[in-house]
Amino acid sequence: RTARFTLDPAFTIGEVNPRLFGSFVEHLGRCVYTGVFEPDHPTADEAGLRQDVLDLVRELGVTTIRYPGGNFVSGYKWEDSVGPVDARPRRLDLAWRSTETNRFGLSEYIAFLRKVGPQAEPMMALNLGTRGVAEALELQEYANHPSGTALSDLRVEHGDKDPFGIRLWCLGNEMDGPWQTGHKTAEEYGRIAAETARAMRQIDPDVELVACGSSGQSMETFAAWEATVLEETYDLVDHISLHAYYEPLDGDVDSFLASAVDMESFIENVVATCDHVGARLKSKKRIDLSFDEWNVWYLSRTQAQVSALDWPEAPRLLEDNYSVTDAVVFGSLLIALLRHADRVTVACLAQLVNVIAPIMTEPGGPAWRQTTFFPFSQASRYGRGEVLDVRVDSPTYETRKYGAADLLHATAVRAEDGTVTVFAVNRSRTRALPLEVALSGLRLTEVVEHSALADDDPDARNTLAEPERVTPHPVDGTTLENGRLGAVLEPLSWNVIRLA
Ligand code: AHR
Repeated sequence: RTARFTLDPAFTIGEVNPRLFGSFVEHLGRCVYTGVFEPDHPTADEAGLRQDVLDLVRELGVTTIRYPGGNFVSGYKWEDSVGPVDARPRRLDLAWRSTETNRFGLSEYIAFLRKVGPQAEPMMALNLGTRGVAEALELQEYANHPSGTALSDLRVEHGDKDPFGIRLWCLGNEMDGPWQTGHKTAEEYGRIAAETARAMRQIDPDVELVACGSSGQSMETFAAWEATVLEETYDLVDHISLHAYYEPLDGDVDSFLASAVDMESFIENVVATCDHVGARLKSKKRIDLSFDEWNVWYLSRTQAQVSALDWPEAPRLLEDNYSVTDAVVFGSLLIALLRHADRVTVACLAQLVNVIAPIMTEPGGPAWRQTTFFPFSQASRYGRGEVLDVRVDSPTYETRKYGAADLLHATAVRAEDGTVTVFAVNRSRTRALPLEVALSGLRLTEVVEHSALADDDPDARNTLAEPERVTPHPVDGTTLENGRLGAVLEPLSWNVIRLA
């Protein structure tokens, strides 16, 4: 049976915030060291940044980049990471049982962002695990105050005359998680988040603050956590965070393919919780969502790796190699974010290089694109504008986790110039899916491009030996006639259909 939907510019979701295409660099494994930063690499610039990686980061279309963690941040001492490199201390990183050399720190992160380009905006996470209000204020003063105080002058003395201008701050990381160093109850966290926010706004009322929400919808404290934290912080923060990772468990690929069902319900439940608190507080303010960690992550495979570590420097950790199936799920997660662009105004793909990442590197060797690179770069490139309200009428399939799920998952974005891009996933592992889209009130006459990521082998991947095994390919036969788009979506495929 054919899957169908209608596009009409009168029915929209909201404008895509460029921050939806953010990513994340954590001091974890080889994300920083031999990832973005490798002074001995043949392509390294004077700052030790790999140019081959920078080129791919630009091509990926990443905007906001969250730093320095993640679980790492809950033991982070920002002052270890600034000043003369040779004087920086080596520290135990409790989160990842690794040794942190601090050769890459705050100043290097800002230099990295500046080299990525003007679209790259800092998003700095604060340590509210082992630290608190005072250290957050010190970091804010060091980073953002122009000069004339001890900490701002120290930054200047360290060679950074211009303030870093960090506007977006995360008030801790995954503080609901028992694995987090300095884990807190919702009440404890709500209080420290509120007081940190209040104090930071004394320095700069215009900072944008993200309170920690839940580390996943399946957390026992989910929703109660958000409600308690927001009761304390509602007037003081701008966003609440969501984190979610997906993997096939017990070989249940069909449920894995429908992971976005969970992601969308997670978003909708957090929106409901935020608005409930807002209503209780009789507030006109709206809290937005920062989905600041999301991805496919084979988490169950990596947990044992970490506990076996004996404090190495930059070990190979969480280096998941993504298949075509993973990329289709990944694309579907991007569709879920776009479908909620009215409330999800920040999102960070976790992470950027080597660690559950779209970009992989070999120390001293090449950098290449994983399968997941392509949905992200295409969505960032063509997913700018107004999201149209897409309500699909689709055949379904049975999943163990979610019951009947639509085979088609789709969204569409209308750019400022009136062109429209449809992003669509066919979740069927065996069947091509005919698609028909009625275009109402849209003056579109031409299919500019239909590109698909699909393969006869759903397990195909890009590797060091074969870095371009999987790339998107053009699809023939997609038509636009009399206001109707007709296409066939290959089994297990991510599709980008551009209309003008
Ligand atoms: O992205 C990997 C880890 O996942 C982060 O450090 C943590 O915040 C989350 O649990």
